[in-house]
Amino acid sequence: MRMTVIGTGYLGATHAACMAELGHEVLGVDVDKSKIEQLAAGKVPFYEPGLPEVLERNLASGRLDFTTDYQRVADFANVHFLGVGTPQQHGSYAADVTYVNAVIDSLVPLLEGDHIIFGKSTVPVGTAQELQKRADALCKEGTTVEIAWNPEFLREGYAVKDTIEPDRIVLGVREGSRADEVAREVYKQSIDSGTPFLVMDLPTAELVKVSANAFLATKISFINAVSEVCEIAGGDVTMLADAIGFDERIGRKFLGAGLGFGGGCLPKDIRAFMARAGELGADQALTFLREVDAINMRRRDRVVELSREILGGVLGRRITVLGAAFKPNSDDVRDSPALAVAGQLSLAGAAVSVYDPEAMGNAAKVFPTLDYAESVDAALEGAELVILATEWQEFRNLDPVHVGELVADKRIIDGRNVLDVAAWQGAGWEMWALGRSL
Ligand SMILES: NC(=O)c1ccc[n+]([C@@H]2O[C@H](COP(=O)([O-])OP(=O)(O)OC[C@H]3O[C@@H](n4cnc5c(N)ncnc54)[C@H](O)[C@@H]3O)[C@@H](O)[C@H]2O)c1
Repeated sequence: MRMTVIGTGYLGATHAACMAELGHEVLGVDVDKSKIEQLAAGKVPFYEPGLPEVLERNLASGRLDFTTDYQRVADFANVHFLGVGTPQQHGSYAADVTYVNAVIDSLVPLLEGDHIIFGKSTVPVGTAQELQKRADALCKEGTTVEIAWNPEFLREGYAVKDTIEPDRIVLGVREGSRADEVAREVYKQSIDSGTPFLVMDLPTAELVKVSANAFLATKISFINAVSEVCEIAGGDVTMLADAIGFDERIGRKFLGAGLGFGGGCLPKDIRAFMARAGELGADQALTFLREVDAINMRRRDRVVELSREILGGVLGRRITVLGAAFKPNSDDVRDSPALAVAGQLSLAGAAVSVYDPEAMGNAAKVFPTLDYAESVDAALEGAELVILATEWQEFRNLDPVHVGELVADKRIIDGRNVLDVAAWQGAGWEMWALGRSL
């Protein structure tokens, strides 16, 4: 099939390359010229394991191309995927849908014939219906444009696998839609191999995505709230999580207590969900998400506070923060807990050295005043306190004996509860962790 992908950020670039990998002919479009130039040259503008290979292979096959020209998009196909950003609005919890609207305004007046736009961006419930009205008003005589919603569940770090073998495909359609049939063709391989394909109305599809993220955020904040109690009561949140995780109804995933969640999705999505519920008059329904957000933010403060307690104040002290990305296997630093901690410590007067295997460039753009070391060893040199803030495998594998030779003082906060306590303590380290007393 021929299709276009509008917006080639994390979601769109991955979707475009993976759809070509599945055998489709794909044209990706973005307003960011430099991003398009990079993608067209076979370079992924962000870190995503496996994606460079898929991109190169499909550019070479001729099934994948990129452009900034909306006229080419309009002429190329009758099926379009919309994956532009929906960030948090400045000064509000609500999602900013101006980019989504702008796509309709740029594309629809150029279309001829019958088209379907599958929205993949995470949007407030009701957006698809609004976009349909917008599209209907802009459409040429004799042209039809249907808006359907096909929310995306990919995880950064596993984006290729999640796009090629999703755990479910959700499609929201209006009555009398033909999008269902078209989506079945697009995702034929996944559906044939048994991936659940769930067709529903538009509001439900929009709500599925934000509900999934709200649930995940709640699960993380639940264990982090329990972790706060463990710290005071002398409990061990890791053992507790293992024990409750054996209950199939609960499950161990997403019960890793620590510095909490961040990134370009969970924080803004729970806020936008609250804001939208408020607009709809259901504000009480989601007030608990405010608490979920607050628990999450408190974990960052706790690590800063713990650093102060350990060092007797951080002014002028040398602290190494391991990690800048919001999670491992990503270079995404949007709302990163690691970077928030590094930044707060630096603003409090500490000499903070940061190292991340992939996110240094992005981190330096957001927080240029931190000291970015060239290697993990260089970052650790002379540290009076080490904070493990993002659980990259490289940090989990660190040898406590070797690291002990680099630092000034063998003190570490395991902000993700991933280190082998016995090994580190055995090598003479003083350790602290969130939710357990070491
Ligand atoms: N990143 C993820 O893991 C993920 C997962 C699921 C859902 N989502 C959702 O997908 C959407 C996109 O997220 P992302 O992380 O890819 O964002 P991103 O910021 O990486 O990418 C958005 C892209 O859209 C482009 N864009 C903006 N306006 C445009 C326009 N008018 N025409 C063409 N391109 C335009 C931007 O230049 C940018 O390249 C968001 O709604 C997000 O919540 C993201």
